[in-house]
Amino acid sequence: MAYIEMVHSFKRYHMGDITITANNDVSFGIERGELAIILGSSGAGKSTVLNILGGMDTNSEGKVIIDGVDISDFNAKQLTDYRRNNIGFVFQFYNLVANLTAKENVELASELVKNAADPAQTLVDVGLGDRIDNFPVQLSGGEQQRVAIARAVAKNPKILLCDEPTGALDYHTGKQVLRILQDMSRKRGATVVIVTHNSAIAPIADRVIRMHDARVKSIETNEHPMDIEELEW
Ligand SMILES: Nc1ncnc2c1ncn2[C@@H]1O[C@H](COP(=O)(O)OP(=O)(O)O)[C@@H](O)[C@H]1O
Ligand SMILES: [Mg+2]
Repeated sequence: MAYIEMVHSFKRYHMGDITITANNDVSFGIERGELAIILGSSGAGKSTVLNILGGMDTNSEGKVIIDGVDISDFNAKQLTDYRRNNIGFVFQFYNLVANLTAKENVELASELVKNAADPAQTLVDVGLGDRIDNFPVQLSGGEQQRVAIARAVAKNPKILLCDEPTGALDYHTGKQVLRILQDMSRKRGATVVIVTHNSAIAPIADRVIRMHDARVKSIETNEHPMDIEELEW
């Protein structure tokens, strides 16, 4: 069994008389330590998958097995513990706390768990050693996203979930961020899942899960994922 397994998972939203099926019989597996990309156009159901994997949302039907444990019938308390101890999240628009410095933003997360990495060192690792005491407004978009990544990885999460992490960034800054995310999987052994609508990024992944219209359309594995430096879009 793979490290992460979604098995015949459905997510339905009920709006009055209408039912929106955001995930329709979604099944896939992701191995430990992989960099996986979930690819698809807007509305395909990608964020829904990611939020369910991260325990931020629950599915309507089907299994969500993480390291052998089905989290789909966890209660709220179990989901909170699961998120806290296993998951790092990176969002498109960074979601930093505006009145805290870079270091304080990272500390917010590292204080939640026992075996956290040192916040300052984590910022050094993402190339922000000289911006530790800056506030978000003093940082560029790419720098803010690197703070957000530092915040996500300072907890030493087993799984790093990233929803359109380069969506608001220019080409070069986006590549820097992808480099850091690929290193998290290759050098630190984290399982990294990136959601994107940008198919040009797919070659860097160990596994590409394509979604369309709430369903998984194909799953491919790359024997030789491309280095970020070779990637162009
Ligand atoms: N909270 C919600 N309530 C109702 N519909 C939703 C909700 N969240 C997502 N949806 C719908 O589910 C579908 C998939 O959304 P989403 O997973 O965000 O797609 P993607 O991330 O691929 O753009 C869309 O049609 C969206 O409008
Ligand atoms: Mg989305």
